[in-house]
Amino acid sequence: MERNSPRQEGGILLSHAHHLERIEETLKEQFSAHEPLVNEVTSHILCSGGKRIRPLLTVISGIMCGSEQEPLYRLSAVPEYLHAASLLHDDVVDEGQMRRGKLPAYKIWGNRAAILAGDYLYAKAIELAASFGIPAIASTIADTVAYMAEGEILQMQHATVVEYTVEMYTKVIFRKTAALLGASCKIGGLLGGEEKGADALWEYGTNLGMAFQIVDDLLDLTADEEELGKAIGTDVAEGKRTLPLLMAQDRADSGDAAWLTRLLERRRIPGPEELARLKELLEATGALADTKAKAVDYGEKAVEALAPLPDCEEKAFLADLVQFVITRRK
Ligand code: IPE
Ligand code: IPE
Ligand code: MG
Ligand code: MG
Repeated sequence: MERNSPRQEGGILLSHAHHLERIEETLKEQFSAHEPLVNEVTSHILCSGGKRIRPLLTVISGIMCGSEQEPLYRLSAVPEYLHAASLLHDDVVDEGQMRRGKLPAYKIWGNRAAILAGDYLYAKAIELAASFGIPAIASTIADTVAYMAEGEILQMQHATVVEYTVEMYTKVIFRKTAALLGASCKIGGLLGGEEKGADALWEYGTNLGMAFQIVDDLLDLTADEEELGKAIGTDVAEGKRTLPLLMAQDRADSGDAAWLTRLLERRRIPGPEELARLKELLEATGALADTKAKAVDYGEKAVEALAPLPDCEEKAFLADLVQFVITRRK
């Protein structure tokens, strides 16, 4: 499997390089489909890098809750398959221009192949989750798949209308992103047989996931495209009112607010000058600072959720991961 530079550069993640190596091996070993086209499309997404945050959360959570490591690595492939499936679908829905520094699968094989390969990955993830014979793991994963689909559907229906609210945004990102990070942690705890621990880890992971998506929405406006590996301004091009845009629009004077509405309704990637004006507006209205503050709040809740768990190296890592997620640039 191709070594990926973004992950290797990820400081804190690298402190667990041995787990990441086992995760890579497991993802590669376990995956084989009968149809060459399915293999081609799924390897394009699975072997193109990515930070592997979700499987790492499963492994660390499982170790904390006393699970053996071998089955844990196998289980950790479940959230990465779900993640990869959701990215295949998401890029079709969002008309994403770049994924992990490469062309998204739909741009190479077309919408139909990307959607069907995504379905296959969802199915494989569910099959693998069920193979552990632990009903709570299977049901957590089934619930997560439903959450993820619901989040994307709610977003499609509502995020582009002027009446979209922070409350709706919160509901959308909980479903589309936070639930999977929560489940990644929880299933590790369940494999270790620690139900209470698994609940605390769910709480940690969902709050981490909220912070993760809020930061992602900021990065869509502020990141360096090459470093991020995704096209900047995609949310604007989709007319999607993410938290920084909602805040800016709410606080801008009528001239700037009208300009922002036009920008969102135009459905095109903003040009460099428009992006610069947008960033100025985000700063002048305090939307940038307050969006970051919101991510920090969720990060604090994530750390608080760890309180019932015994102090150990893994717990310290999970607390540090919150900082990584909040300050990440990719
Ligand atoms: C991207 O997730 C999709 C979101 C939930 C924002 P990641 O940033 O974890 O993507 P990779 O796996 O590292 O590429
Ligand atoms: C992330 O969606 C959550 C998924 C279900 C894939 P986004 O559309 O916000 O994420 P990116 O920016 O394409 O990675
Ligand atoms: Mg999307
Ligand atoms: Mg997208």
